[in-house]
Amino acid sequence: MKKVVLSLGGSILFPTLEENRVSAYAGVLSRISRQMRLFVVVGGGGEARRYISAAREIGLDDALSDEIGILVTRMNATLLAGALGDAAVPAVAENQTDAYAAAGTGKIVVMGGITPAQTTDAVAAVLAERVGADLMVNLTSVDGIYTADPKTDPAARRLDLLSADRLLEIVGSASLSAGSNTVIDIVAAKVTKRSGIPLLVIDGRNPEHLEEALLAGRYSGSLVTDTGQKPARLL
Ligand code: UTP
Repeated sequence: MKKVVLSLGGSILFPTLEENRVSAYAGVLSRISRQMRLFVVVGGGGEARRYISAAREIGLDDALSDEIGILVTRMNATLLAGALGDAAVPAVAENQTDAYAAAGTGKIVVMGGITPAQTTDAVAAVLAERVGADLMVNLTSVDGIYTADPKTDPAARRLDLLSADRLLEIVGSASLSAGSNTVIDIVAAKVTKRSGIPLLVIDGRNPEHLEEALLAGRYSGSLVTDTGQKPARLL
């Protein structure tokens, strides 16, 4: 079976705790997992940002704010693992080795953050390398990688296909502070370059788009490959 690692942005799964997409994603992930091995790394979302801004207001440093963000990602991951029921390993992995070991069960492996000064995109990129994934997918709230931030630069255009080196150029100047929000963090970009594993970035607001991408190879987004060449097929 093909192996796919998903970085499921907190902004997608938990824009807020009340308006979450956990049930919708649980259904889609269970269906996909009948045809491929899935690893899901869950982000912090709106709640992580609220905690991090409370931490800043009381004067906590970025390293401790990151630790708080990690705790929120693990709570989010626990909700998703619970919703997946029997289809997933019930315990959320707290490091890469535990996630790798959990893969032996054949069930969906779910995890959150693990270490400060990165985001769950980096966790997912390292996990992809560790398990020898065929593809990593970043499910986020923009529909791909742009030449600049499309929210602030009207001249920004989406890149449908790019090399890992081009990705590094684009994300190289982004900040690493707790709660920072770029399409993919620099650590994840560097690991993507190192591993050579293709990275697909798509808008995750509609979970069915993930199903269509993985099962039918149809998507609208950005594909990062080692050389910037389009592969014959996605999986
Ligand atoms: P993420 O940045 O990964 O979640 O983690 P997100 O912002 O919800 O994901 P996207 O943007 O939608 O894709 C939230 C915060 O938790 C800390 C960081 O402060 C991060 O900004 N964190 C997370 C870590 O320090 N280390 C980790 O391994 C994961």
